[in-house]
Amino acid sequence: MIDTHAHLSSSKYRGDLPAVLKRARMAGVVAIISVGYDMPSSEASVRLADLEEDVFAAVGIHPHDARKLDEEALAKLEELCQHPKVVAIGEIGLDFYRNLSPRKIQEKAFRDQIRLARQLDLPIIVHDRDAHSKVIEILRSEKVSNGVMHCFSGDLNVARQAVAMGLYISFAGPVTYGGKKAAQIVRRIPEDRLLVETDCPYLAPVPHRGKRNEPAYVRFVAERLADLLGKSLEEVDAITDANARRLFNLPA
Ligand code: NI
Repeated sequence: MIDTHAHLSSSKYRGDLPAVLKRARMAGVVAIISVGYDMPSSEASVRLADLEEDVFAAVGIHPHDARKLDEEALAKLEELCQHPKVVAIGEIGLDFYRNLSPRKIQEKAFRDQIRLARQLDLPIIVHDRDAHSKVIEILRSEKVSNGVMHCFSGDLNVARQAVAMGLYISFAGPVTYGGKKAAQIVRRIPEDRLLVETDCPYLAPVPHRGKRNEPAYVRFVAERLADLLGKSLEEVDAITDANARRLFNLPA
């Protein structure tokens, strides 16, 4: 199993990160992508990836912090990407739910980081909260064909548009909460575009809902996909691992 989206640099793991990593390995997690959301967390993710063989890094500025993405920050992100274990730009995107940065500034930061990813030939990790049509519009106008819609919360129509562009659809803890919309999407998109993630420390899957999440729990997300697809956990692991390795160009 590969946890394609974990925030290992979160302060929630400050006291016990080695134990968290150990539990993930015991649970069969063979790789974790530690995803940045601002400059300190991006730098911390690269440092961790440098230390731990099974940890990879994504660097980027989340829409909440979009106003911090100036020329200097873009140059710093580019520099971080020189590390061989940086496998994506993320998480980037639009958040029209909390609107912690003005929408126009979020859109500019999203486009700037998409262009950086293209220049470096890296996939993007997209955060989309209540901004589905604008996200799709920007992805299309920037001709994005390499990335993932993380912790997917859109409807089937949005998923199909993303898949048509070449993107992957990643599911996290909420897919275990019993909603019908996500279940329908899991069954209807091509299985070679499915990914699993935790988005930890947030959004713990059932049976840990409401508690701190961690990479070991990605198996509960994979089990839920297995239920929905009528497949075994082993089959879903094989499919989603292959997908993650293809998208992020991870070593075999
Ligand atoms: Ni995240």
